[in-house]
Amino acid sequence: MLILGIETSCDETSIAVVSDKKKILSNIVYSQIKQHQKYGGVIPEIAARAHLDKIEEVFKSALDEANITIKEISAIAATCGPGLIGGVIIGTSFGKGLACSLDIPFIPINHIMAHAITPRLTSELSYPYLLLLASGGHTFIAEIFSAKKTNIIGRTIDDSAGECFDKVAKMLSIPYPGGPTIEEYAKKGDKNRFQFPIPLKNKHNSDFSFSGLKTAISNTIKDLGCYLDEQTIYDICASFQETVSEIFINKLNESIKIMDPSIKSIAFSGGVSANQFITKKIKDFAIEKQLEVFSPPINLCTDNGAMIAWCGIEQFSNNYELDFDPKPRWPI
Ligand code: KG4
Ligand code: ZN
Repeated sequence: MLILGIETSCDETSIAVVSDKKKILSNIVYSQIKQHQKYGGVIPEIAARAHLDKIEEVFKSALDEANITIKEISAIAATCGPGLIGGVIIGTSFGKGLACSLDIPFIPINHIMAHAITPRLTSELSYPYLLLLASGGHTFIAEIFSAKKTNIIGRTIDDSAGECFDKVAKMLSIPYPGGPTIEEYAKKGDKNRFQFPIPLKNKHNSDFSFSGLKTAISNTIKDLGCYLDEQTIYDICASFQETVSEIFINKLNESIKIMDPSIKSIAFSGGVSANQFITKKIKDFAIEKQLEVFSPPINLCTDNGAMIAWCGIEQFSNNYELDFDPKPRWPI
């Protein structure tokens, strides 16, 4: 079975062809970053127009690279939410149009659920598992029992981790999106130079908070005066990244105390899981707790069509679901 996956919920127009044997035949990602960079964040109207502009080209490239014709596709999966509604409407409508014209099933995909089960596409991760999902829009810890059954045990009470990366980057005049550059700069910095707070450290639950950390960094920058030398920027990046990893480990530690006893593995996914420093810290923690640990390869951590196609494979049913409405908000 070959599934076409369509992702348009934020600033990537991506279409992939994935087989039920876990083979990624193609995964074309058109990033709009350059169009948003000068504004320091994603502008919804620009994003929607860019999706509309590119989706057909990305679709054709996905078929070309997979070396198949559209007639070989068994079903269409598309992100129907949550996300920026303009992009979500475009991906959903494009997917429904294709499914309708080919008379094949349309599978509406929850973008967050797709991130949550992506580690299963590239590894032998079996249900149930404990998931830490950290993206630009979400940060939570959940028990994942199947592609349709989850239980969130803690979530951010303010910003997401990815948003915090992007806002700290902005304070340091690093272009959007900040995450990858902060990771690069941190390699040249001293993670012990600044001690930033670990919000909710003494609250024995699985909830996160990032706004206090953001404020602490803003105050540190103000205290240092207006000019920051290169080394200071690297040191702030390293100390911040270290703090985020400590926040994650603190909350994973709380979560494993209350998780379902049948859980034997941890998965880390979403855009922030592209960060290899943090991933390594989580791996070390899991090994110490005698749990297996899984995280997608970097290109499947940030938004992509392959994760949508894979979620379509896991949630496959012969339903046509052409009446499914795009949703800007859609909790898992
Ligand atoms: O999952 P994603 O691509 O989009 C959403 O669903 O939100 O996540 C994007 C977020 C951005 O905030 C970006 O800064 C962050 O993931 N990110 C990273 C890294 N690469 C992307 N954060 C930290 N380190 C990275 N290497
Ligand atoms: Zn995402």
